[in-house]
Amino acid sequence: MKILVIGSGAREHAIVNALLRDRVSHEIVAAPGNAGIAEVVETVSLNTTDGALIAEYAGEQAIDLVIIGPEAPLVAGVADALRAAGIAVFGPDKAAAQLEGSKDFAKEIMTAAGVPTGRSVSATTMNEVEAALDEFGAPYVVKADGLAAGKGVIVTGERKAAHDHAEFYIHHGPVLIEEFLDGQEVSLFVLSDGDAVVPLSPAQDYKRVFDGDEGPNTGGMGAYSPLPWLPAGFVGEIVETVAQPTIREMSRRGTPFVGLLYCGLIVTSKGVKVIEFNARFGDPETQVVLERLDSSLADLLLATAKGRLASAPEPVFSSDVAITVVLASEGYPESPVTGKPILGLADALEVPGVSIAHAATARDGDGFVSTGGRVLTVIARGGDFGDARRRAYLALDRITLEGSHFRTDIAARVAE
Ligand code: AMP
Ligand code: GLY
Repeated sequence: MKILVIGSGAREHAIVNALLRDRVSHEIVAAPGNAGIAEVVETVSLNTTDGALIAEYAGEQAIDLVIIGPEAPLVAGVADALRAAGIAVFGPDKAAAQLEGSKDFAKEIMTAAGVPTGRSVSATTMNEVEAALDEFGAPYVVKADGLAAGKGVIVTGERKAAHDHAEFYIHHGPVLIEEFLDGQEVSLFVLSDGDAVVPLSPAQDYKRVFDGDEGPNTGGMGAYSPLPWLPAGFVGEIVETVAQPTIREMSRRGTPFVGLLYCGLIVTSKGVKVIEFNARFGDPETQVVLERLDSSLADLLLATAKGRLASAPEPVFSSDVAITVVLASEGYPESPVTGKPILGLADALEVPGVSIAHAATARDGDGFVSTGGRVLTVIARGGDFGDARRRAYLALDRITLEGSHFRTDIAARVAE
C-alpha cells in the first residue's frame, strides 16, 4: 500500500514505525514528518491544514490511504477534501471532528446519546462563570471550548486561578465549568467506520509535569498499556455505554465519525465518566498501544477508512506490556529551552525492547538538537512493568540533553 501519514509528532513516528513492522511492506510518506521520521521514511513538506493541497498531492502520488494524526487538519476539514477526491482517509470529516474541536458540542452529543459525563455549565459571561464556580465548588475545573493545544483545561483549588483562566478564554468562545471528578484516568481508543466500533487496548496517560502528579498539566509525560487493574469487561462496557451511542448519534445527525474516537475516561466511585473526546490517536498513549499491536495497523486503518470494519479481523495485542516516558526540555511546559544537542540516542537504542519516537528534534550534522518542549519519547516493552520500566529508564540514562527532565514514576504503581 502507498500510505501518507499527516503530522509531525512522536505519535506519527510511532504510527510510521507500526506500519513498517507490518508483514507486508508499504511505501510510506510523512507530511511534514520530523527528523526522526525522516530517518525511516520519505518526508515531504506540505501545509497540513490545507485540504485542497493534501488531496492534490495524494491524488498525484496515487496514495491508497491517508492517515491523519493531529487534530488541527481534522478540524480544518482535510479529511473532507480527501473524501471528496475519492481518496481513502483515516480521520473524521470536519463536522465529526467537532467532538474534539468543541467541548460544548461534545457535551451536547453526550447528553443526546445518554453517555455518562460530569455535570457542566457552558458560560458565555463572567457572571455565569462565577455562578457556576459557586455551584460546583472547589476543586474547580474550567475548560476552553475550542482547540487550545493542550492548554485549555485547568483543574485548580484556587478560585482566582479558575477565574483568570475563564477570563482569558471567554473572549474566544464559551467556557465550560465542570464538576470535579476524582479517580483513575483511562484512555481508550476506539476505531469506527461510522457504524461498526472496534476498541484497541486501553492505556493510561500522565498529564502532570512532575512525579506524583505535581505541577501543571502538559500534553502528556508518559503512558503505559495495558491497565492490569481494570475490571474484567471494562472495555466492552465502554464500547456499549460510550462509544456505540456516540457513533450512532453522529450517524443519526448525518455526520458519521470515521477514524479514531479517543475516549478520555475517569473511573469514579459513581461509575465511569467521559472527561473528553478526541478525534484522533492520543499522544503519548499511541506509542504504547501500537507497540503492543501484533496485527496489521495498515489493514485495520484501511478497513476503517473504507467502511469495512465489521468484517475486518479483530486487532491482536501482545501480552507484553509497554511504557513510554517523555523527555522534555528545560522549562517545559511554561517556556521550553530549545536548540540543545541530544546525545546518546544510539546507546539508548541498544537497550533490548527500546525504541524512540521523535517529537521535537532537528538534524544537526550527524546528530540531533531539540526544537520544542516534548523532545522525544522513549518506548520500552517487557514481559512485565518492572522489566519495561528498567529498560525505559536505562535508555533515558544514556541520553543527554542539557536541562531536560522526565517523570520517573511512569507505571511505577502497576510495577509494584
Ligand atoms: P481534557 O483536555 O478535557 O482531557 O483535560 C485535561 C486533563 O484535566 C484531564 O486529563 C484530567 O486530568 C483533567 N480533568 C479534565 N476534566 C476533569 C474533571 N471534570 N475532573 C477532574 N479532572 C479533570
Ligand atoms: N494524551 C492526551 C491527548 O493526546 O490528548
